[in-house]
Amino acid sequence: MAFLSLFLVIYLCLASSVLCQVSEFISIDCGSPGNYTDPSTGLGWVSDTGIMNHGKSVAVENPSGYSMQYERRRDFPIDNKKYCYTLRTQERRRYLVRATFLYGDQGNEDAYPKFEMYLDATEWATVTIFDASRVYVYEVIIRAPSSSIDVCICCATTGSPFISTLELRPLNLSMYATNFEDNFFLKVAARVNFGAPSKDVVRYPDDPYDRIWESDLDQRQNFLVDKAPGTERINTTKNVDIRTREYPPVKVMQTAVVGTEGVLSYRLNLEGFPANARAYAYFAEIENLGPNETRKFKLQQPYIPDYSNAVVNIAENANGSCRLYEPSYMNVTLNFVLSFSFVKTHDSTRGPLLSAIEISKYQVIAAKTDWKDVTVLTAICSMSAESAWANEGGDPCVPAHWEWITCSSTIPPRITKIQNVKGQIPSELNNMEELTELWLDGNFFSGQLPDMSNMINLRIVHLENNKLSGPLPSALGSLPNLQELYIQNNSFTGEIPPALLTRKVIFSYEGNPGLHKGAQRKMHFKLILGASIGILAVLFVVFLGSLLLFRNLCRNMSHKRSDEKGSCTSAFFMLHCSF
Ligand SMILES: *[C@@H]1O[C@H](CO)[C@@H](O)[C@H](O)[C@H]1NC(C)=O
Ligand SMILES: *[C@@H]1O[C@H](CO)[C@@H](O)[C@H](O)[C@H]1NC(C)=O
Ligand SMILES: *[C@@H]1O[C@H](CO)[C@@H](O)[C@H](O)[C@H]1NC(C)=O
Ligand SMILES: *[C@@H]1O[C@H](CO)[C@@H](O)[C@H](O)[C@H]1NC(C)=O
Ligand SMILES: *[C@@H]1O[C@H](CO)[C@@H](O)[C@H](O)[C@H]1NC(C)=O
Ligand SMILES: *[C@@H]1O[C@H](CO)[C@@H](O)[C@H](O)[C@H]1NC(C)=O
Ligand SMILES: *[C@@H]1O[C@H](CO)[C@@H](O)[C@H](O)[C@H]1NC(C)=O
Repeated sequence: MAFLSLFLVIYLCLASSVLCQVSEFISIDCGSPGNYTDPSTGLGWVSDTGIMNHGKSVAVENPSGYSMQYERRRDFPIDNKKYCYTLRTQERRRYLVRATFLYGDQGNEDAYPKFEMYLDATEWATVTIFDASRVYVYEVIIRAPSSSIDVCICCATTGSPFISTLELRPLNLSMYATNFEDNFFLKVAARVNFGAPSKDVVRYPDDPYDRIWESDLDQRQNFLVDKAPGTERINTTKNVDIRTREYPPVKVMQTAVVGTEGVLSYRLNLEGFPANARAYAYFAEIENLGPNETRKFKLQQPYIPDYSNAVVNIAENANGSCRLYEPSYMNVTLNFVLSFSFVKTHDSTRGPLLSAIEISKYQVIAAKTDWKDVTVLTAICSMSAESAWANEGGDPCVPAHWEWITCSSTIPPRITKIQNVKGQIPSELNNMEELTELWLDGNFFSGQLPDMSNMINLRIVHLENNKLSGPLPSALGSLPNLQELYIQNNSFTGEIPPALLTRKVIFSYEGNPGLHKGAQRKMHFKLILGASIGILAVLFVVFLGSLLLFRNLCRNMSHKRSDEKGSCTSAFFMLHCSF
């Protein structure tokens, strides 16, 4: 059976490279009791049971008309923690990430949930449920910053936070590349299929990348209103060549609207705007134009210098009909209320045509916790892999910090306090330059203290009641900001770094039988120093004396040199004789 399905997969992969993309889809049905294949799309969905250990699965009321994914949702506790799903990615590859929410419960309307969703440390959306029977969809296009991303739910202001589905869709090559992707994600604000035959969205399998293309018939309040009179819907069954950059689905490009009276206009509200946006318009000439007919038009509204003066002639721009022409605006500032219109030029015989649009907001990527600190925390967590505290997930500091650490509000955040962890003290600790407090008391830490010489901001260190052994690193004594150091009830040995005893540091070290004050050693050291100086002085006097002696000797010898050649042969004598 497994063999057979393997064959099937290989066959499908050979049949189409696009189908292979599907095997890379990650589709999580949050709250679902098991894995399944959705017969309406053929896509496999996995339950989040093994992925998410928090919250509970809740049956959703009235999921009528919605697909299987909306029968259950996952509710999270109402607290100050974050709940994160980690998705594997390929660094620097572009992805579409989508989260959807169907609340379902019609009952207590005053408690409809409102909460935050983050992608890594970046605020993705404030999820606000106004209509319990509507599926809220949030999409973001990213270039993966590392080998995984975290999608976190947190910070409920009303109701309990929840999630219905989470999807990751890899994109192909340079699709949705922008000049700003090092620093910005693209938050999808609108993706509309004009001239759609019904209110249904177009997505997989019609769109191999499983983008959701909303139908222009699915009008909502303030969404696709103020349509210009004379707007007509057209369609074709001919294939449309979509191989340009963004690969919109053929099905979307086979329909369009035309402004038969010379104008095409719509108004829609853009969530989260005014903002800088990446905007795409998709055109394909799907009407048969006669030899003396032309379709030429301009963008009249909003006025964008450089673009509004350009004349669109789809067939000419695309070099043929039934071919995609895809002008886009790399960075355009748009208002919350977007009114756009295309107007035909005077010499054009046909009105403007529009197949689809996409508008995405540039969302600045927020800095994750400094990687040096994260490596230490990762090392600490990996030593207690089974403990709940070591598995909170997501970024240590943003949007909510892990229970056992405290973070600075700097960019990027740094760890300022660690407390109540178990295991061994990792050597990477020394990378945490911004740590001010270290509370590791009352655990079973053993082994030696690692080098802490870089931790120059440390003020308070609690290491008491552990099984730590070996010497106290002398660098502890020179930490410039150290105020309190507690190491009672351990097995430290050797001498206490003298600076710890002379500086104004609160230092408690009883219960370490092998540890002794450096005072003796200090005396000893002074003794050695005194003795050494004495010996040196004596040696110097002796040396001076011998020098004088040699001088006299040499004088005598040089008198005799003429008759007794070669007496001063030893190098030592030669050297001193030359004075
Ligand atoms: C669901 O699929 C995932 C990923 O393939 C797997 O790890 C998990 O064990 C499956 N769960 C069940 C209940 O079969
Ligand atoms: C990108 O997609 C196109 C069509 O969808 C396909 O022909 C091509 O092989 C894909 N390229 C890669 C690298 O996946
Ligand atoms: C295509 O257009 C024709 C007439 O223009 C219309 O009758 C038909 O329903 C349209 N088909 C679709 C799928 O929209
Ligand atoms: C877009 O243009 C504005 C104004 O010129 C500029 O401030 C901004 O940095 C640009 N890029 C993004 C991603 O907003
Ligand atoms: C096209 O040109 C022919 C001859 O000049 C003319 O008879 C016809 O009306 C024109 N058609 C349109 C749509 O302008
Ligand atoms: C436009 O298409 C014609 C044939 O349809 C082809 O000969 C020509 O090279 C194309 N031009 C460009 C710029 O692709
Ligand atoms: C050290 O151990 C002793 C004996 O178990 C205990 O009485 C004392 O409170 C401990 N010191 C600290 C600082 O906890």
